Amino acid sequence: MLRRVLCTMLLVGALPSLAEGSQGHISVVLLGATGDLAKKYLWQGLFQLYIDQVSSGHSFTFHGAALTDLELGQKLMFDVLKKLSCPPDESPNRCAVLKDQFLKLSQYHQLKTAENYTALNREIGILLHQEGLKEAGRIFYFSVPPFAYTEIARHINSSCRPPPGAWLRVVLEKPFGHDLESAQQMAAELTSFFREEEMYRVDHYLGKQAVAHILPFRDQNCQFLDPIWNRHHVERVEVVLKETVDAKGRTSFYEQYGVIRDVLQNHLTEALMFLTMELPGNLSKAEEVLQCKLQALQSLRGLEKQSVVLGQYQAYASHVQEELQKGQNYVSTTPTFAGVLVHSDSLRWEGVPFLLTSGKALDERVGYVRVLFKNRAYCTQSEALRDAGHSQCKPKQIVFYIGHGVLNTPAVLVSRNLFRPIMPKSNWREVVGQPDLHIFGQPLSDYYVYSPVKERDAYSVLISNIYHGRKDFFITTENLLASWAFWTPLLNSISHQAPRLYPGGVENQHYLDFEMVSGELAFTVAEPVELLNPSGPMPSDYKTIQSKFRKSPLVSAWSEVLISQLASDVEKTASRAVARSGQFHLALSGGSSPVALFQRLARHHYDFPWRHTHLWLVDERCVPLTDPESNFFSLHNHLLQNIRVPYFNVHPMPVHLHQRLCVEEDGGTELYAKEIVALVANASFDLVLLGVGTDGHTASLFPHSENGLEGAQAVVLTESPVKPHQRMSLSLPLINKAQQVFVLVMGKGKHDITTQISRVGREPRKWPISGVSPSSGQLVWYVDYEALLG
Ligand code: BG6
Repeated sequence: MLRRVLCTMLLVGALPSLAEGSQGHISVVLLGATGDLAKKYLWQGLFQLYIDQVSSGHSFTFHGAALTDLELGQKLMFDVLKKLSCPPDESPNRCAVLKDQFLKLSQYHQLKTAENYTALNREIGILLHQEGLKEAGRIFYFSVPPFAYTEIARHINSSCRPPPGAWLRVVLEKPFGHDLESAQQMAAELTSFFREEEMYRVDHYLGKQAVAHILPFRDQNCQFLDPIWNRHHVERVEVVLKETVDAKGRTSFYEQYGVIRDVLQNHLTEALMFLTMELPGNLSKAEEVLQCKLQALQSLRGLEKQSVVLGQYQAYASHVQEELQKGQNYVSTTPTFAGVLVHSDSLRWEGVPFLLTSGKALDERVGYVRVLFKNRAYCTQSEALRDAGHSQCKPKQIVFYIGHGVLNTPAVLVSRNLFRPIMPKSNWREVVGQPDLHIFGQPLSDYYVYSPVKERDAYSVLISNIYHGRKDFFITTENLLASWAFWTPLLNSISHQAPRLYPGGVENQHYLDFEMVSGELAFTVAEPVELLNPSGPMPSDYKTIQSKFRKSPLVSAWSEVLISQLASDVEKTASRAVARSGQFHLALSGGSSPVALFQRLARHHYDFPWRHTHLWLVDERCVPLTDPESNFFSLHNHLLQNIRVPYFNVHPMPVHLHQRLCVEEDGGTELYAKEIVALVANASFDLVLLGVGTDGHTASLFPHSENGLEGAQAVVLTESPVKPHQRMSLSLPLINKAQQVFVLVMGKGKHDITTQISRVGREPRKWPISGVSPSSGQLVWYVDYEALLG
């Protein structure tokens, strides 16, 4: 059949004849040809490709494939093909002819077994041979669930590769893993079958016209944007996808993924990257674009739990219970709404808040990327006069409007008081009228507004880019892994966090509004009481217990209160030391417990005498200081970069000397000890902050450690039972010279060791923490309720 059609078309001249110099033949194989995505978008996108490229010199055949047997599969597939619609700008007659050809060039195959793939390969070969067609390439579009990827990939690799000289492009649909590890695993599997340049990972948002135009817009308007596209001028950036639909019918997928994995990790992050990446020298060079995008991704600052607000629409639990046959008591913590505050560490964007927001069951469907500029003018004119003309006092913004919402079309909006943008006339036309329409607080007439001349579905844009081999419209393996590396730590830290419940739709009122407070996100209004989950009672006892632990003062409370108490005690100690000696020498531990303290100090203690504070490390891991495992790295991230402490007062441990780590001959321990002796009176720190490990270790002094538990050495190298094994640490004798020692113990995981050490005497070889006993100073324990009471 195919053969006949190709032959006839060549004869009637509907396709260029080979004698005229054919560019060769392209076979498109759509796997999952009868599935939802194929029905809704992919076949239409392929038909559009055919319409656009019928005179390109390439000839095409389209092979729909699925597991369904031939007869039924064929029927299902052709039912879809018969309903393909003609684009509005196409003449009905030409379109009818093309549709007829498209149907005739399409064929259904059952692809189930290795033999099926071999047969497909054979059929393509025979057809091309008989027609005397040169093969240009093959596209395999995987519109199938990811668990099927490996097997299909293996079959294609072993029996469906085109002959040398022709290309292979495999197109993959998300989800590309669930977190960094699973994405790495999946990427490794795929890479064993395909080369990087053969893989086209789809993020359909990159095919949305407004998103796809961000880079060209920046490039074409660089004369206006160059001076203002930076932290000095941009107030904030919002990347938003609001949806009215809920997760009904998709809970088996949604329950595992949630809104962050479903939308933020991919669509919103990708759109943000187009906005924040440096402009490549040449936009038409895919490698340059991809490289700049990767750098932008890698310069995102790690997210904290506090960077996010989470919600779940109220009916979600019952949707899950019904669809996944869960009992009435099943509680899901999957968020269906998230707002995330993202920052970049690049010099261009440092300090600018990027707000990423998405949710299901919201009040409207709309998507946009909005850049709001700072208003730097002071307006002396009265407000009445101010509104005339394009006043500098009105808000200034650039919006890439992805679609839906009040405009109901993709668009690019630029405040008239910014500049008149340069837009390619062939693709975008200026929209005028609709004076009553308001958008982002301003009448539409305050903006230059452009919408596409021809509205195109994202999938048809992407299919055209696959055909043209435009890799910059797709997600490379490096890009994918960098994105997961950014999101995974946050996803892990919130996996058990209960999202706020919201009623859904317009009834959400202001429940999901959130604000930035001291670099964190918080909902602006309290959770409606009637929605609160009765199974999760709020702790009522917020008091701090003051008592004794191992004969020393004990402060205990729920963790948040404990940290705030500890932070103010640290500040009091600092102020006293500075009043007494003009300086405050503080030695800080690493690990996870003090992070909350660092954050608290950075955000709430504006009177802290940082200018007179020296910061020392209690211990360090033998890794470069820029390694995320480094204690200094964490101190820098959570505290140093947020406070004004003089550089020369910061004393990282010298674990990295002569380009190697913790080598005894390099004398790092002696160097640190000397620095302490030189700066700290009597080598007695004003305050040492310690923690306790589940094995009773403190600082990097582990049970049965060879060094540091006794003796004259002030700073020692030690071995940890867990990675990274090599450590540098203050010794117990040096710690015990301090004037104050605070020990912070938090979390349920520390309950056993807390109980244990409450009962034992001084046995530092077994439990190094039990050896902490300042000779003339004071020891205070800060233990949260979870560690104390389990
Ligand atoms: C998909 C998500 O990738 O994108 C869906 O899985 C979401 O949950 C959809 O609804 C949004 O895309 P669009 O094109 O409808 O805005």
